[in-house]
Amino acid sequence: MELDPLSLDDRRRYGLMISLIQPRPIAWVSTADPEGRRNLAPFSFFTGITAKPLTVCFCPVRTRHGKKKDTLLNVEETKQFVVNLAVESNARQMVATSADVERGVDEFALAGLTPLPSLKVKPPRVKESPAALECELHSIVTISEGALGGTLVIGTVTHIHIDDALWKDGAFTHKDLKPVGRLGGAWYTTTKDDFEIPRPGGGA
Ligand SMILES: Cc1cc2nc3c(=O)[nH]c(=O)nc-3n(C[C@H](O)[C@H](O)[C@H](O)COP(=O)(O)O)c2cc1C
Repeated sequence: MELDPLSLDDRRRYGLMISLIQPRPIAWVSTADPEGRRNLAPFSFFTGITAKPLTVCFCPVRTRHGKKKDTLLNVEETKQFVVNLAVESNARQMVATSADVERGVDEFALAGLTPLPSLKVKPPRVKESPAALECELHSIVTISEGALGGTLVIGTVTHIHIDDALWKDGAFTHKDLKPVGRLGGAWYTTTKDDFEIPRPGGGA
């Protein structure tokens, strides 16, 4: 089958995209507005860019009505955010924070989560997440505006929190972190069915 993406309507194109690109890691992004009101939401269009300096990105798309999401507005205005990691133990609360609520509504409270002060940025991190990356905004790339328009938010990681319980011999693995990935529709996956393939030359 051959498909020209332009031949599909917005909903089908989105459904196709999240079914093709999977599993996706989930950035659970905490921000604050200029008055300090907390915000928390998951973003699975998320990845690392480079480790030198440690840089990550995620992609808040505009709503069906062309409105910017609260996370994007907060990052634009305050230039800071925290990427908390979504794992098996917090997956349901993570999804609860994706509720479409008014700006200023605290999704920490909504999902029964505990905000912990960050060290170098104003937005708090999520206590229930075993790892969090404090970020200063590097840049924002606007791909498209209007309904479902796309934005790439790039952040430089200025501080990393990792639960001591995960840290063994100076490292941690997915077996302890227990990350969840997003699939198509409302499906998620764990890393339980894992396998190892050494690279040519033996590196990772
Ligand atoms: C697991 C998961 C992943 C999501 N990934 C994205 C994403 O990559 N981009 C996006 O714009 N919305 C994504 N969403 C939807 C947002 O979380 C949702 O629109 C949320 O209300 C945005 O909150 P905000 O307005 O407080 O920023 C995702 C939702 C879930 C449950």
